[in-house]
Amino acid sequence: MRLTIAIDGPAAAGKGTLSRALAAAFGLAHLDTGLIYRAAGRRTLDGTGALEAAQSLTAADLEADDLRTPDVARAASVVAAIPEVRAALVDFQRAFARRQGGAVLDGRDIGTVICPEAEMKFFVTASDEVRAERRYAELIESGHDVTLASVLADLRERDARDSARAAAPLKPAEDAEVLDTSEMDIDTAVATAIAMVTARTGIPPVA
Ligand code: DC
Repeated sequence: MRLTIAIDGPAAAGKGTLSRALAAAFGLAHLDTGLIYRAAGRRTLDGTGALEAAQSLTAADLEADDLRTPDVARAASVVAAIPEVRAALVDFQRAFARRQGGAVLDGRDIGTVICPEAEMKFFVTASDEVRAERRYAELIESGHDVTLASVLADLRERDARDSARAAAPLKPAEDAEVLDTSEMDIDTAVATAIAMVTARTGIPPVA
């Protein structure tokens, strides 16, 4: 059996939570591809060129503890619009997507560019206000000094850049299931997604 689950969608739509839950439910490895762009963007804040940052990423860069800040998110979205940066990161993601035992990848272009042959594709979304409130709560919880208005403005700016770029823009794959989590709690969203995977692939959850 081969199972790759592609999860795309705008910032703070719940992709990470859903990805981890689906990976656990179906016994799959998980790759948060946003973290790769964040790690590259993080290095540009130290003055490294974007392409050099992408080409020389190490595992340690992905483990840096400050990848979740608003500044790094913005830098990630900026470097992610550069076609050469994306090209430098494709092979690693494709190999992960087709690894033995299956995988869940979440990002912006997984179902459209990285793994168009994925057996299951989701486009996870939620209203701007709901996404901003969720991200605001996370940032406050982790000690960041932000306002709800600034988080909402940041999300909208980033989504606009991610959607408008020419290289692998954020958009649903034609065969993606759209999952709007605005009105769903986490348990409902996870149960809905698991049922959708099984309905499409015939593969039952293992956990
Ligand atoms: O998922 P995230 O918020 O951690 O992603 C950070 C930025 O990285 C996002 O604004 C756009 C970029 N990104 C991308 O272009 N393609 C991906 N597959 C994942 C992230």
